[in-house]
Order: sequence, then C-alpha cells, then structure tokens
Amino acid sequence: MSNGENLKDGDIKTACILSIDMIGSTPLSDKFNDKELYDTKIALHKWVKYIIQKRTGSELNWGGDGGIYYFIYENIIKRVVTRAVVSAKEMIDNFGEFNDTYNNLFYLGKRNDIQIRIGIDFGNVVYHSDKGDWHSSEINSATKIQGKAEPNSILISSSAFKELEDLLKLEFETFDEKYNNSDLYTYPKVKNTLENIENPKEPLLIPTVIKSFTENITPPVPNFVGRVDDINTITRCYESEKTKIGAIIGLGGEGKSSIARKWFDTLLSTKTEPHIFWWGFYRNNSIDRFLNSLVTFINGKEIEIKDSWGKVDWIKHNIGSEKYLIILDGLEEMQKGEQGEPFGKMIHVEFRELLTWCADHLNGLVLITTRFPMKDIEGYIGNKYENIELEGLSVKDSRDLFNKIGVKGEQKDFDKII
Ligand SMILES: Nc1ncnc2c1ncn2[C@@H]1O[C@H](COP(=O)(O)OP(=O)(O)OP(=O)(O)O)[C@@H](O)[C@H]1O
Ligand SMILES: [Mg+2]
Repeated sequence: MSNGENLKDGDIKTACILSIDMIGSTPLSDKFNDKELYDTKIALHKWVKYIIQKRTGSELNWGGDGGIYYFIYENIIKRVVTRAVVSAKEMIDNFGEFNDTYNNLFYLGKRNDIQIRIGIDFGNVVYHSDKGDWHSSEINSATKIQGKAEPNSILISSSAFKELEDLLKLEFETFDEKYNNSDLYTYPKVKNTLENIENPKEPLLIPTVIKSFTENITPPVPNFVGRVDDINTITRCYESEKTKIGAIIGLGGEGKSSIARKWFDTLLSTKTEPHIFWWGFYRNNSIDRFLNSLVTFINGKEIEIKDSWGKVDWIKHNIGSEKYLIILDGLEEMQKGEQGEPFGKMIHVEFRELLTWCADHLNGLVLITTRFPMKDIEGYIGNKYENIELEGLSVKDSRDLFNKIGVKGEQKDFDKII
C-alpha cells in the first residue's frame, strides 16, 4: 500500500481521505444468503476501486461493506480533494446504474437496491513501515463523517471543502450537523434530493454550462434606500410556485431597475441560484440578440437557429424543468408606446408568445421592469402574473436618501422638496 516509492517510517504527506460504506446490509442479511450478498459486495468493491484508481487514488483497506481510500498530494498530483470529490460524485451520480448493472439481490422478483454513503476529510497522513500503510486522525474522522451522511450522499469536512474548486463548492450545501465544531458540507443539496423524490426529473439532454448571464446588467445604486416592501414582494414572487412573471411597473426614473438590482444582489449574497439571465433592453433592444443570448445561455454553447420564431420555439422545447430566473429590464423598449396601439402590447408577437409560454410553463420567475402595463399577460394577473406597481419614494426614504448622499439642510426644507 505504499505508493511504490521508498517510504520510511514516520514519513508525513498531505492527503485526502475518502471513506465509503454500503448502508442497510443487516436488513439485507435477513432476506439473502451470504453467497448472494457476497456477489453484490464484491461487485461494489471492484466498482469503487476502479473509479478511485482512475483518479490516482489508492485503497487503504476494504472490509466487506466498505473501505478507505486515499489520494496523496505530490508535486505532479495536485488537487487531491477535487480528485476525491469527483470520484465520490461519480459514484453517487451513477449509483442507480450500479444497481441496474451489478446488483443481484432479488427478493420475490423485486430488486433490493443498496445504498452507499461517503465521508471525505483532508489533512496529513503518517507512514508506518511495520504495517506498511498510512495512519492519521483524518482517516478516523473521514469514517466518522461518513457515518453521519444521508443515504446516497457525500459529506465532506470543512478542511476538505476549503480545498475544493469553486465550481464544485457550488454543488454542496452546509449540513445540519457539525463535526468537531466545524461545518460539514453535503452533496447533493438536500432540497434538490427532496424535490427529486417527489417529482423525478427528466434527464437534461443539453448540458447547461453557463450558470449566469449578466452582461448588460444595471449597475448597483450606491445609496439605495427603502423599498423594503417591494423587495419582499419580489422575493415572495420568486419563491412562490404559482407566480411565473412579476413586473415592476412605474414612471421613468422612479427606481424600477435599482430595485431589481438591489433584490438580485441580496439574492446572490444569500444563496447560489442555478440559472440566472439578465437582459437590459436599454442597452440592447434587439430581439435577435436577446434571443440568441438566451438560447446560448440555456444550451451552454452557441447554436445556429434561423429566425426569432425558431429561437422562441427552441427555448420552449429546451429550457427543461430546472429553475430559471430571467430578468428583463426596461422592457418598454420592446412594447408599443403611446403612438402604437394597443398601448403596452409587445411589438414582436414572438416575444408575446415567449412571455405567455413562460406564464404557463416556466419553472422559476421572469422579473420585468417596465414603464408600460403588460397588456399581453394581463389575463394572468393574480394567478401566474403579479403586478408590482411602484410609487415614488416615501417621505421617510427620501429623507434617508438626502442624509445618505450628504445633502445638508433643515428637515423642514427637505420635506418641502419631497
Ligand atoms: N431606492 C433608491 N435609493 C436611492 N436611489 C435611488 C433609489 N431608486 C432610484 N434611485 C436613483 O434614481 C435613479 C433612477 O432609478 P432607476 O434607473 O432605477 O429608475 P427606473 O424606474 O428604472 O427608470 P427607467 O424607467 O428610466 O428605466 C437611480 O440611478 C438612482 O440614482
Ligand atoms: Mg430602468
């Protein structure tokens, strides 16, 4: 178990430790004989070892129901935690496939699926030449952490989490329990797991590589004040299963875009949302460019689609069931104004089609800011579409703003202006 090099007693190396075990073998042994269980366990062992060794990991031991693996940091083998976590993810993500392919545990014609759980820690390991293998407290803690993990999930220590690539970090969430007073992180996110159990999702055929598109986002307002109720309303719309479209409607300069931006920043600071697309029509009011960017965002890479109707159809068929937040800022640029009739309708029918489709089918929210009423979707008001009509800043908020930007004067003079 040495890595094939000349190791001496007491040599210390940095390593990532992965502990894995199969859950529920006791109830299984009531139904199945040793031979039947043995075949499935052997298959599991081979499968795990193969995945680990592909990424330069080694086996420390395997004891019937589970084992311990390590990834030693070397100058030519860096990012050991990422190697361990990617291996663990491969196991968890494909465990259904393992059961389909290797599990021989059939009882009265029905297959008994087995489950696994994985714990990961990062730290130092010490070489013991008498036994010819590695020891460390991290080996112990990886096993203890694994014991806390939910079925078919990974649990990693905070020291391992710190070493992880940023993109992988996004796939974990903080676990309810701690280990040695430090946070633990779990994959997959529990929220997603519950959703998956209740309504299993179709596999996504098209990989969504880009997670957010905010090229022409409105800049944040440095002295933002008030608007607490409006911001809470947007949060409510976003969290509601029913609401698919929310529109902040108000006069020019009243603060619509600023509110959208403020809410957006607050959302990002509290949690990581999967698919966020912001389009500012003031900066770019071309329907083709907007649709091209949305298609590219959903698809993960550019594709050639002929006209804007084709793009809208493509979006409808390919956006899938994952949650999206689509912010359309300054949408009046794409609506009929005072001269055009009827006032507030979308100039392009295909845009209207996209909006009504979103109102009926989107998982997530389209958040609009516009000076005009949303004529095309007014039939959905109070159901799938919520109107957030903006009023001028309250007297209190205006006073706060004057104070924040450092306007000097008497309160009564401020109030005259307000
Ligand atoms: N809550 C606020 N606190 C502080 N400043 C604000 C607030 N709301 C708006 N402002 C100020 O007013 C300016 C105009 O606001 P904003 O651009 O958000 O308006 P809008 O309603 O989106 O206008 P338009 O219809 O022209 O897009 C901002 O740049 C900012 O300086
Ligand atoms: Mg605006």
